[in-house]
Amino acid sequence: MKVVHTIQELRDQLRGQLRIAFVPTMGNLHDAHLALMAMAHQHGDPVVASIFVNRLQFGPNEDFDKYPRTLQEDIDKLQRQNKVYVLFAPNESEMYPEPQEFRVSPPHDLGDILEGEFRPGFFVGVTTVVLKLFSCVQPRVAVFGKKDYQQLMIVRNMCRQFALPTEIIPHETVRDTDGLALSSRNRYLSEVERREAPRLYRVLNEVRARLRAGETDAAKLEHDAQRELAAAGWKVDYVSVRRQRDLRVPAREEVAGGEPLVVLAAAKLGATRLIDNLEI
Ligand code: PAJ
Repeated sequence: MKVVHTIQELRDQLRGQLRIAFVPTMGNLHDAHLALMAMAHQHGDPVVASIFVNRLQFGPNEDFDKYPRTLQEDIDKLQRQNKVYVLFAPNESEMYPEPQEFRVSPPHDLGDILEGEFRPGFFVGVTTVVLKLFSCVQPRVAVFGKKDYQQLMIVRNMCRQFALPTEIIPHETVRDTDGLALSSRNRYLSEVERREAPRLYRVLNEVRARLRAGETDAAKLEHDAQRELAAAGWKVDYVSVRRQRDLRVPAREEVAGGEPLVVLAAAKLGATRLIDNLEI
């Protein structure tokens, strides 16, 4: 695997490649990231990964400064896995040599709801860096995880609207044996919090089970789920049943009529904010 830090070196390595499969990350790689690399390997060649902790997508009170940066461990993991041909790990002055004044704004009805409501500016930061990374790598396909469901949908829509030649391939959420979705932020959890954390997934499963059993009052399910989390000490941002196709709130007839739905949640356990979702 070649590790490059500049856009020029990246371009030199990739000249003439037409089937590049790309996996952008912020590093601190875990098994879910590696699963995305393996999937990329099935869909293209060479596989390019990136590691860049993107300041633009962090709010002023978020964890940008303490976000885990473990480049050498990440390189070792990728080297052992042996699926990635080039790792692009730019520093900030390479990605943003001047203030990044051009931004990509997702439409409000997609970018300002759910995660966007609780993390203003988050998706503008994500789409801006993803477009820039795509411009550097010029991939034919890129793999994104369903764990970040709204991000996946927004990136897909961006590609469609800008007619980008990159196909977005979703990867299922990778979980620990107790159901907790893998995340770089899980390392912030104390031992006690780590034992509590799988409740988020259990609560989503309860919502799904009750919908499947014929419940059509989504608001009631959301309310019950939030109450269960709050009772266990969580600070809930949202638990919300949405339509898969556009993340809008479904009408009751749609819930009853088999509209494909997804239940999404974000909640804080202590100081750690976790997100998860489940398709129904
Ligand atoms: P990061 O959180 O590092 O995630 C990189 C990719 O891994 C994303 O596509 C994310 O959805 C996926 N991923 C993380 N945990 C996962 C899990 N448990 N199961 C499946 N996929 C998982 O997402 C970002 O970085 C950034 O926003 C980025 C797209 C790189 C832009 O900066």
